[in-house]
Amino acid sequence: MANYNLALLHELKQYATIKPAVNQIEFSPWLFQEKILNYCKSEHIQLQAYSPITRGLKFGDPRLVALCEKYQKTPAQMVLRWHLEHGISPIPKSVKRERLVENFEAGQFSMEAQDVLIMNGFHENFRICEDPGQYL
Ligand SMILES: NC(=O)c1ccc[n+]([C@@H]2O[C@H](COP(=O)([O-])OP(=O)(O)OC[C@H]3O[C@@H](n4cnc5c(N)ncnc54)[C@H](OP(=O)(O)O)[C@@H]3O)[C@@H](O)[C@H]2O)c1
Repeated sequence: MANYNLALLHELKQYATIKPAVNQIEFSPWLFQEKILNYCKSEHIQLQAYSPITRGLKFGDPRLVALCEKYQKTPAQMVLRWHLEHGISPIPKSVKRERLVENFEAGQFSMEAQDVLIMNGFHENFRICEDPGQYL
């Protein structure tokens, strides 16, 4: 399923006879939807992140650039790694082979816990797509 916010997840629990396996929502360090993440973890629903690299719009964030320098990784790799550190499955889209390879390499390093916390702090409710909750 996709675009289930907390209200919808709570409602779903009242009537669903089959527990959902995956919830696909927009998620990035600049849209750190921590309450939905924690709820999904507690209910064993895998969170899947769409628009995880903000279509590159936040790659110039100086705080991200500093972390890229520390880890010698690209902005996309750093952001995707942050998702993985949270147990989230990011689904970045690319039509370019070299970027697909670059993005896959996010699975091949780890981040220090303090840097995960720093990236959590990037949150500013920044969205690429419309907030699905606005129609509730
Ligand atoms: N369920 C939903 O409601 C929903 C809503 C939105 C999106 N989605 C899905 O989520 C997936 C990803 O979301 P998205 O496409 O919105 O955003 P995204 O994955 O954050 O960004 C994709 C953009 O970033 C570029 N890119 C990819 N890898 C890059 C890299 N390593 N360096 C620099 N630029 C890079 C891509 O360009 P190139 O292709 O030119 O490389 C593309 O323009 C899509 O498959 C989409 O179908 C689902």
